[in-house]
Amino acid sequence: MWIPDETLERVRSQVNIVDVVSQFVQLKKQGKNLFGYCPFHDERTPSFSVREEKQLFHCFSCGRGGNVFTFLMELEGLSFPEAVLKVAELAAVEIDPAIQAQQQQQKPAADTKQGKLLNLYEWTSEFYHHILLNTTTGEEALNYLLERGLTRETIKQFRLGYSPPQRVALKQYLSGKADYENALLKESGLFSDRSDDELLDRFSNRIIFPIRNRQGQIIAFSGRKFLEGEGEQANIPKYLNSPETALFNKSTVLFNYDSARSSIRREGMVILFEGFMDVISAWQAGVKNGVASMGTSLTEEQIHLLDKVTDSIVIAYDGDTPGMEAAKRATDFLTEKSHFAVEVVLFPEKSDPDDYIKNKGPEAFKELLAHGRETLIGFLMRYHRLSLNLNNESDQLTYIEQILKEMIRVPSAIEREMYFQQLAEEFQLPIDTLKEQFHQYLQAFQRKRTQERKQEFDTQKQEAPVIPQVRKQVRSLNPLEKAERLLLYRLFHHPEILGKLHSQPEPFQFANEDSQLLFMLFESYAAEATEPRVDGFIDYIKERELKEKVTEIELMSVSEEFNDEEVEDCIKRINQASLYHQLEDSKKAMQEASRTGDLDTQRTLMMEIVKLTRQLKNN
Ligand code: UTP
Ligand code: MN
Repeated sequence: MWIPDETLERVRSQVNIVDVVSQFVQLKKQGKNLFGYCPFHDERTPSFSVREEKQLFHCFSCGRGGNVFTFLMELEGLSFPEAVLKVAELAAVEIDPAIQAQQQQQKPAADTKQGKLLNLYEWTSEFYHHILLNTTTGEEALNYLLERGLTRETIKQFRLGYSPPQRVALKQYLSGKADYENALLKESGLFSDRSDDELLDRFSNRIIFPIRNRQGQIIAFSGRKFLEGEGEQANIPKYLNSPETALFNKSTVLFNYDSARSSIRREGMVILFEGFMDVISAWQAGVKNGVASMGTSLTEEQIHLLDKVTDSIVIAYDGDTPGMEAAKRATDFLTEKSHFAVEVVLFPEKSDPDDYIKNKGPEAFKELLAHGRETLIGFLMRYHRLSLNLNNESDQLTYIEQILKEMIRVPSAIEREMYFQQLAEEFQLPIDTLKEQFHQYLQAFQRKRTQERKQEFDTQKQEAPVIPQVRKQVRSLNPLEKAERLLLYRLFHHPEILGKLHSQPEPFQFANEDSQLLFMLFESYAAEATEPRVDGFIDYIKERELKEKVTEIELMSVSEEFNDEEVEDCIKRINQASLYHQLEDSKKAMQEASRTGDLDTQRTLMMEIVKLTRQLKNN
């Protein structure tokens, strides 16, 4: 695929890197930069920065950097043209339909196993979706979904499907599509594990929910039975998921994350549901920032995905006892592992969000989400009361102790004050006594935490070598490197300096190999480009390390004004260093030549050394 220059320029001039990056990373303003957690590695303090005026990003910790296209290429593994189209899409820049069509024809790289699986799932999803919407076989399943209140539009949006009861249907359909090897089909998880030879549909007679990864590619399926039935039908699990495959690990996936991401950013929070159907009904009701785990407790990987886009989470679980227990587990885990502001909405009368929408309507649902949220401690108070009888004095005491301990998780002193007052009033206790008790718990907790941290640290030191996440140490540059970078910076902004470099008495060369490479690349880029610019140059370079170096150079704090003197000075320093390097090399070669007694070479080298020494002096 090829993107015309005119289109590329249009995308470039209309997009703001901040808008695009913001859909993946939560950014906060800090001086000239916006900062956030780097999406390319795990980190505890934000070292990922975006400089809006330069339209560049750079991570101070892992060294990754570049422009908006580089960002998507790296993050989502896209090619350059793919990244351009994705940027255009995210920034709502209109693109010639012909170019888009060209892009859509390209299926994922079909030669790797992962590419083959992605293609296979894509076909499979299309098959199930078609059966549900357009065939008599799918009629019953479709009616079931429509009766549950889903619209056709929603069914299409989530690409829901139906797997027919004939257990050979999928295999037959796929045979007509491509020549998939049996080994791959077995690995795909689409077929039953039990049959050895014959490939029988795993999900047969179920409603199909495609599971997408964060790039929006289908990587697994979940199938729901929909006939309550008797005998066999009654005993099978309600939902059946794909097994773990090369692409699918259920603890790292959040249902609907890819399409919720931008709403999560916009709304400033994510809503965590228990089930797929809740996410889907909420979406239909206009609440698009919902996700769900895959029927399991929240994992650290999932928290990490959310951490990238928001710091506020609303847990919206069923109002029954299991829902309450699950919400308690989730709040414990979230407050221990993250800094999310956590709120809870439990749906009344033991209903789940999906029931609630169906019974009370979308408006009531949105109202409850907006104004019916409990604070973390409010929820925990209710939770602990459930198992206690507060008319009983010893239960009262247990309750007060439990709540004071939970309050360790509340960072805001004002909020804590509110709870102290609440408890003091309810149980007729002096507020100071409560505070004193709280501080004892707090201290004990902090001691324990310090101890744990220390142990963790000690075992890390003894056992596992600490894997450095930091690819490049931030180090200070020596004067030569500074001069090279400054000269490159000036060159990128004032390509006319090339003329000056070409007119040097001796051919000009950077001392550092990377710098020399960038210099040569820039020469050829400048010769091709109508209007050479740093942004375009980054896209011109293929190698990641070099792109990163250009980004670093571009982000140096350099005064915008410059004069010939400064450039001359850089050239002089670099020349000197280059000459010095060459001199060192010649001297080494000289030693070698005299060791082997090669007189001819010795003579040539001698002349070289004399020449270099003279040049160094004159420079
Ligand atoms: P629920 O039983 O609450 O299902 O399980 P639901 O989402 O409300 O679905 P409907 O309304 O009955 O159709 C919540 C989640 O737990 C997982 C699924 O991910 C489901 O969405 N689950 C449930 C399973 O993995 N297996 C099961 O057998 C049941
Ligand atoms: Mn439900």
